[in-house]
Amino acid sequence: MSKSIAVNRLKLSLGNLESLPAMPEIARRLLVLPLETESGEEQMISLIEKDPQIYARVIGLANSSAMGSQRQIKGIRDAAMLLGMKRLKSVALGIAAMSAMLKKPAGKYFDPHDLWTHSMTIAIVMHAIAEAMPKRIRPDENQIFLAGLLHDIGLAALHHLDFEASEELHHQMCLNPRSSILDVESELLGVTHAEIGTQLVRHWNLPREVADVVEKHHAPPTGKEAYGNPLVRLVNIAERLLPDFGFAEHTFDPVQDSEWRELCIDSARVNEIVDLVNELAMQVVQLPEIQPAAVREIVPAPVAPVPRGRFASVGYAMRRLAAWLKFW
Ligand SMILES: [Fe+2]
Ligand SMILES: [Fe+2]
Repeated sequence: MSKSIAVNRLKLSLGNLESLPAMPEIARRLLVLPLETESGEEQMISLIEKDPQIYARVIGLANSSAMGSQRQIKGIRDAAMLLGMKRLKSVALGIAAMSAMLKKPAGKYFDPHDLWTHSMTIAIVMHAIAEAMPKRIRPDENQIFLAGLLHDIGLAALHHLDFEASEELHHQMCLNPRSSILDVESELLGVTHAEIGTQLVRHWNLPREVADVVEKHHAPPTGKEAYGNPLVRLVNIAERLLPDFGFAEHTFDPVQDSEWRELCIDSARVNEIVDLVNELAMQVVQLPEIQPAAVREIVPAPVAPVPRGRFASVGYAMRRLAAWLKFW
């Protein structure tokens, strides 16, 4: 595929909002569902129960020890008790929105399920980092999950809109391990996943804070502007603590003290946060508690504990990830 073909085709499709995927029906219904009443809560539970894919992913997430679960979560009502109604709604909404674009088959260089794992891990890590922030500036938990799950929705949209362009992008990311994803995208496609994703979430009328995250997560504002929406810096730091987790975005830049200060996090706590992030990454890899019996038989048993340390843990996590992603 020539670069110019990709550029022209993609710009054409982005110029026409109708070519962007419609928001899935279940996500639209969840978005407008009021939770202040018992009937609103019941409606949400019944919506989730009717969608096996969303149901299984919500239960899988709730069963993660990363979510603080002390016991096995067997149904959606258990999950609602653990997560709370508001968080359950944003988790289900994020999953519904992402699921719409995770249906295309995997290519040689990009598997949409890797994006799912990446996004879920980033959401969980954001939640953990936010716990270290003072309550007065900590973002709403609902928005943390929604923002984490959807921050790279532009990559899912690209894969959905133009499979060949998406494959070429991820191929080029492998060939250029030092280049930032925004640079590779700008040169190859003339548009970035941040721009595509922003168009999509605005088209879907998702909250402004989430659109901000999608647009700026690779280049958060600095100075006074940085304090407007801490969600953007949260995603950005989470990605840099887990560089290339799931697929390559090349977010290797170390996090500076000044960036932790934007979240009012003392640099003395950084090592503790980094250790926690590594542990969470390991737990996410072991997430799918709900699997068909045939799959449970195939998934390898847990291997011996690995040495602590950032890259050792992540490397181990990635090997486990590769083992089960095929089945998720
Ligand atoms: Fe990204
Ligand atoms: Fe990302």
